[in-house]
Amino acid sequence: MSKKVALITGANKGIGFETARQLGAQGVTILVGARDEKRGTEAVQKLQAEGVDAQFVQLNVTDTATHANAAKLIEENFGKLDILINNAGVLLDGGVKVSETQTETWRTTFETNVFSLIDLTQALLPLIKKSDAGRIVNLSSILGSLTLNRDPNSPIAASGFHNTAYNASKAALNMFTVHLANELKDTHIKVNSAHPGWVKTDMGGEQAPMELVDGAKTSVALATLTDDGPTGAFIHLGETLPW
Ligand SMILES: NC(=O)c1ccc[n+]([C@@H]2O[C@H](COP(=O)([O-])OP(=O)(O)OC[C@H]3O[C@@H](n4cnc5c(N)ncnc54)[C@H](OP(=O)(O)O)[C@@H]3O)[C@@H](O)[C@H]2O)c1
Repeated sequence: MSKKVALITGANKGIGFETARQLGAQGVTILVGARDEKRGTEAVQKLQAEGVDAQFVQLNVTDTATHANAAKLIEENFGKLDILINNAGVLLDGGVKVSETQTETWRTTFETNVFSLIDLTQALLPLIKKSDAGRIVNLSSILGSLTLNRDPNSPIAASGFHNTAYNASKAALNMFTVHLANELKDTHIKVNSAHPGWVKTDMGGEQAPMELVDGAKTSVALATLTDDGPTGAFIHLGETLPW
């Protein structure tokens, strides 16, 4: 059996980097997607020092030319892609009320968290179809749950957080997950949305309750699902979340 190959976007730090460590420790070849060559290369060196088979792939998710280059590199070196973890994301409207969030902020948020993710997934899908067990993991958030945003008794509503553009981008991403999973339901490919938890990273902040090591677990579990695992689901640490 050939070694599994995974591409993780935004793998130079945070949840993406920790996911690379944990998947790499399972013997998966890790393609570290990062927009900045220096940060990406440093991440690869750290992974290699821990014995992970890792290499850098320059990938700015908002630049489709880098998608094409990544697809070419993967085709030439591996001929397939087993795991795509769409992890790169931005939160640009923390603490801003919806009535005051500029449409430019909505556009920029959707460009990274939704449109680029769709572009990259479509560019890589022919290679994922060549895997005998393709897994696509989309890093969503519980903040994308319409059900919980609407419920005044949910922890989200109670927190008073306002990241409407971010939350909406994750809800849109969830819709992409569901429809792609439906389209691919008769193939070997599973497509799921992951909520990592509220995790201590540059995005999650110091006050987040979860450590990185636990924050990567949902992505790793969905990337390594067996054939009887779910597809088109929204998961946090094995639990199904409401859409
Ligand atoms: N932390 C949490 O509590 C939490 C909760 C729910 C969901 N999530 C989701 O989990 C994912 C990872 O979050 P995190 O907390 O690890 O965030 P983070 O520490 O801020 O890391 C974000 C990563 O995304 C990369 N990135 C952003 N824009 C990019 C672009 N245009 N092209 C390529 N890479 C880009 C960043 O690269 P640079 O270093 O170059 O900026 C970085 O590697 C995100 O999708 C986030 O929405 C996080």
